[in-house]
Amino acid sequence: MSTIVDANPADTSDVLAHVPQQTAQDVARAVERAQEMFPAWRDTPAPSRGRVLARAAEITRAHVDELAKLLTREEGKILSEARGEILRGVNLLEWYAGEGFRMGGKTRPSEVPTTLLLTLRQPVGVVAIITPWNFPWAEPVWKAAPALVAGNCVIIKPASLTPLVAQRYLEILEEAGLPKGVLTILVGPGSEVGDALVNHPAVRAVSFTGSCEVGGDVYARAARRLAKVSCEMGGKNAVVVMPDADVDLTATGTTQGAFGSTGQRCTATSLCVVHKDVTRRLVDAIVDRARAIRVGNGLEEGVTMGPLVDGKQLETVLQYVEAGRHEGARLACGGRRLADGEYARGFFMEPTVFTDVQPGHRVAQEEIFGPVLSVIEVGSLDEALRVTNGLRYGLSASIYASDANSIMRFVDRVEVGMVHVNSPTVGGEAQIPFGGIKWSGVGGREMAEEGLEFFTELKSVFWDYTGRVRQTNIY
Ligand code: UN1
Repeated sequence: MSTIVDANPADTSDVLAHVPQQTAQDVARAVERAQEMFPAWRDTPAPSRGRVLARAAEITRAHVDELAKLLTREEGKILSEARGEILRGVNLLEWYAGEGFRMGGKTRPSEVPTTLLLTLRQPVGVVAIITPWNFPWAEPVWKAAPALVAGNCVIIKPASLTPLVAQRYLEILEEAGLPKGVLTILVGPGSEVGDALVNHPAVRAVSFTGSCEVGGDVYARAARRLAKVSCEMGGKNAVVVMPDADVDLTATGTTQGAFGSTGQRCTATSLCVVHKDVTRRLVDAIVDRARAIRVGNGLEEGVTMGPLVDGKQLETVLQYVEAGRHEGARLACGGRRLADGEYARGFFMEPTVFTDVQPGHRVAQEEIFGPVLSVIEVGSLDEALRVTNGLRYGLSASIYASDANSIMRFVDRVEVGMVHVNSPTVGGEAQIPFGGIKWSGVGGREMAEEGLEFFTELKSVFWDYTGRVRQTNIY
């Protein structure tokens, strides 16, 4: 069996594991086992299924430090961000534990006397979940929690770069009482394990998070065999700044949004579309904050930005920096790899800000997935909306302003799935839907009660309780 080296991106001499790579045969076996387990899990009362998640939330809370440390070593984000990610997973477990009591259908009045109309919410069956490396805990949690409470059997393929954190999720769920075989984790290449899951006729739903390129392919293949598909993909998230914005607040929020998680999140703030009356002041304030960021190993006290996840990701981001310069954008700070001394064994770079960016530039259009912010100057809110809505992505956006009319016009008109007001573009909460439109997402929202819809089928029941043949003109 082949293995891959799972190493700390801040220090590649810190090897976490040699992880065996599974194959298409493992997928076939796991699906068969999941099918065997399905009837008993489906027939377990939903509140009891929810209780497993509630216990998993408690166990997770008790292990938050250990889990956060593992996450930082495996993925690179700094410890405080890792803790935040673990705790966000706890919120999701708690929310979906409660859905075990709430989930259900509705009743509706019938046109026909003494007839009951109702809907039942039932599990889909065996479902596959494919998750990215950048939220190696939160993503498996937020997809699998609704799937499990709804009564599905689940197979997760975590990213090959970060399998251990996902493995701990499985251990915690089993410790909380999840029967073995209801959830399986398979680690292996997308081209083998991912494809086998997406193509397997018994896998009735596929929930994917990752790049648009892979997501488009997953969507097409699963749709071709008429499986349910949900894809949450990239973003090019803009902060729009009006002249009446609080500049300090905006600079701090934009810096957090751009450089938090080293910019490696689909909701990262990647564009700053700023009114010309405040560009100068805002850029100076952002650059001051970017220069104050301490890059390093996320396990160390005082470090405020970790490495990129691997050499390939670092290379991609540095190529974007090159493209930005080449197209005529001006580097206001950063732009270089950090490779000396303490940085020698990791994948570090400086927080980077480009100004004088034009809407057509690649750094203004494409998802970079690294610590790079592009500033575009505009003359009005309408122009800002044109720039933002001209992007092919539609995940998240934000406005910094005071005037309620501008804020509401932006909220109303901006073409995204999530909009923030006077706060950065990042993040999400368990109790409100998460997801985007256009190239950012297809197949329904995640989280909250909407997140349950994807993992359930609705059955409509028409129940005539007279026991007599009746005439009706409603067909
Ligand atoms: C967040 O920004 O808090 O891949 C979550 C991603 C998203 C998760 C983002 N699916 O970055």
